[in-house]
Amino acid sequence: MAEIGQDIDKAKAFLERGELVGIPTETVYGLAGNALNPDAVSKIFTVKNRPVFDPLIIHTSSIERVLEFVIEIPVKLKILGEKFWPGPLTLLLHKKNLVPDLVTSGMDRVAVRIPDHSLSRELLDILDFPLAAPSANPFGYISPTKASHVNDQLGDKIPFILDGGSCEVGLESTIVGIENNEVVVYRLGGLDVKDIEAVVGKVKVMTHSSSNPKTPGMLKSHYAPTKPFIIGNLESLIIEYQLKGIAFAVLSFRDVFRTVPTGQQVQLSLSGNLNEAAKNLFASMRALDTMDVSVILSELLPEQGLGRAINDRLRRAAVD
Ligand code: TXA
Ligand code: MG
Repeated sequence: MAEIGQDIDKAKAFLERGELVGIPTETVYGLAGNALNPDAVSKIFTVKNRPVFDPLIIHTSSIERVLEFVIEIPVKLKILGEKFWPGPLTLLLHKKNLVPDLVTSGMDRVAVRIPDHSLSRELLDILDFPLAAPSANPFGYISPTKASHVNDQLGDKIPFILDGGSCEVGLESTIVGIENNEVVVYRLGGLDVKDIEAVVGKVKVMTHSSSNPKTPGMLKSHYAPTKPFIIGNLESLIIEYQLKGIAFAVLSFRDVFRTVPTGQQVQLSLSGNLNEAAKNLFASMRALDTMDVSVILSELLPEQGLGRAINDRLRRAAVD
């Protein structure tokens, strides 16, 4: 298992040697390596069992440093960066040659983000290279929101996890780019589209894709537990599965079901708060996945605020 701790100098030493380290961010934990070192980047794909056509996000600590590895930041995206960084926003920007092609899967744009977590920002500040970091989970599985989640699945493959507690936002970053001067959202995430639109006007949401996705976060089946995950009206699903005699667990927004044992149901937010629901989502899905049941029954949340991004993850979890 990996060593877990808060020593950023130790994390720095591993990263400088080309090793990978689990790092906390406000969205989810990342599996980080030196973004400018192709060997370290290649390890990320191996450890995650991630196809090389799925490019990585680069993390750094300031807009000045972003400019070290992108050609330019289009005006509208710069406004977004200035407003929402550090935070759950990733921008797709034209890369300079020093960014290895492996990071971008050969594409001209690189995904860049300044995360909002004090430990990781301190770490990024003292490193003289940016960090490539996908979510620290095996490809296709639920993203980690605690150091222990990273350790459970990747602990035997990496030396160190920087422990920054539970992720405050709990959903991956919102991925944004620009096409023909129009702002495009490629992945719904921890930054609400409404907040983006309040700054740059109407945006185009393009989060569904064909078999050749621009961003594999757009792949239909992703963020998925190992158990079948079924979405619908919980009252009727519960009756249906009770009649079928199939053991199930329930993931609900706020409702508690009297006919289901307490140990087999999880509420995302008893007070019906969508931000709290986002924060709890992935840890709840993991907990349900380890229960002694055959299926997980769930429901969609209101399509507003972070509810949109939560529903995106729930729908992808439900595709087999
Ligand atoms: O919140 C987050 O974004 C977290 C934390 C660790 O920063 N990271 C994360 O990374 O979710 P990952 O690798 O699990 O998802 C990144 C998504 C992928 O779907 C990838 O395809 C897309 O970003 N992406 C990365 N680079 C891209 C590029 N150059 N062009 C298009 N899509 C890109
Ligand atoms: Mg991921």
